[in-house]
Amino acid sequence: MRSRFIIAIDGPAGAGKSTVARQLARRLRYRFLDSGALYRTVTLAALRAGLSPGDEEQVAALARTLDIRLEGGPDDPRVLLGGDDVSAEIRGPAVSNAVSTVAALARVREAMVPLQKGIAADGGVVAEGRDIGTVVFPDADVKFYLDADPAERARRRADERGEADVESVRREIVSRDRDDTDRDVAPLCAAADAVRVDTTALTLGEVVARLAAEIEGRMGSAS
Ligand code: DC
Repeated sequence: MRSRFIIAIDGPAGAGKSTVARQLARRLRYRFLDSGALYRTVTLAALRAGLSPGDEEQVAALARTLDIRLEGGPDDPRVLLGGDDVSAEIRGPAVSNAVSTVAALARVREAMVPLQKGIAADGGVVAEGRDIGTVVFPDADVKFYLDADPAERARRRADERGEADVESVRREIVSRDRDDTDRDVAPLCAAADAVRVDTTALTLGEVVARLAAEIEGRMGSAS
């Protein structure tokens, strides 16, 4: 058993993974690994290079050459591409619209696995994404699958973005869920040994408390 855990948090967009993962990382003094940021950064690089986001051969070849770093702590996570801070650009609409296509490419996913394993080599990581507990860290010490009703997830995303049209955000979320769940490689799904938490009716504080209790319980029985 590692002395510093690897904690996997998977689930669909808007389930609260990112905020909860950051709060847990802060509380445990662990690193925060935002795996979606990696796929977003590859997407940005592909768009900048003028590649079609679905061109597996070219996008994967490019992905293997990229220098992507996740820096900063859970309070100020930053993504560097070739040394440049691209944290804001990877959240923009151009990347958001193309990222599901890039994330569905098997060879791009393969290229991102060593990067994620490297970050977690010594444990002490809270990693969030879609395939963390199933593919990237199947031996994670604690796995969670966070979910919530699509309407609630849309409301949270709309709030975050200051967007008034919650219904159009809901449609976007449902379509993204479908893309992420139906793809052949590393589809969004809960690991068999994941603790499932429905966050629809919970506050952020309640979700963090529930996950922290589970983690601390496992740490207690591991020591
Ligand atoms: O969590 P996010 O919105 O930043 O994720 C961006 C996209 O990347 C989304 O379409 C899901 C995909 N993704 C993935 O396929 N695997 C991961 N481990 C993380 C994100």
